[in-house]
Amino acid sequence: MAIEKNELRRVIGHFATGVTIITTRDEDGRPFGLTANAVSSVSLVPPLILVCVDKKSESYPYFERSGVFTVNILGEEQETLSRRFATSGTEKFEGVGYSKNDLGCAVLDDTVGHLACKIVQSVESGDHSIYVGEVEAADAKDTSPLLFFRGGYRKIGG
Ligand SMILES: Cc1cc2nc3c(=O)[nH]c(=O)nc-3n(C[C@H](O)[C@H](O)[C@H](O)COP(=O)(O)O)c2cc1C
Repeated sequence: MAIEKNELRRVIGHFATGVTIITTRDEDGRPFGLTANAVSSVSLVPPLILVCVDKKSESYPYFERSGVFTVNILGEEQETLSRRFATSGTEKFEGVGYSKNDLGCAVLDDTVGHLACKIVQSVESGDHSIYVGEVEAADAKDTSPLLFFRGGYRKIGG
């Protein structure tokens, strides 16, 4: 028998991750996004990464329609931003500094880095969709990332 949801969350929570905000857009260029740690590198040649998006999230239809996303890797001082983008039904971008990249996705200010992707494959899997994105542009700087571990935000060394 498969394990129960809370037990899976507890156990997988021992796998420490970074924290990202994945952004996308509607057909008028309005930004959408959500906090996510189900993000992984897939392939170097061609350059592919994947993200997993809950089909119940408000952002989900915009990933489906636009076919593009950008992964913003949060810095250790961006926990408040992470909490904001992990809350549905709010004006997430109000007062948040960002620019738009060539794909029309929001690149948030003061992050560790970002990866701009075109979706080349999508797989419905359980209650999420897995989007494989070809990386069109990316950048990062050597500043400390925000971490998520055992259900809480952490800093490297903290
Ligand atoms: C640390 C953290 C990691 C998360 N990772 C994911 C994820 O990988 N995929 C996902 O769909 N939701 C993830 N979530 C939950 C979404 O951020 C949350 O459901 C959000 O409210 C969705 O926003 P929306 O409904 O406005 O799209 C995560 C939340 C937190 C706090």
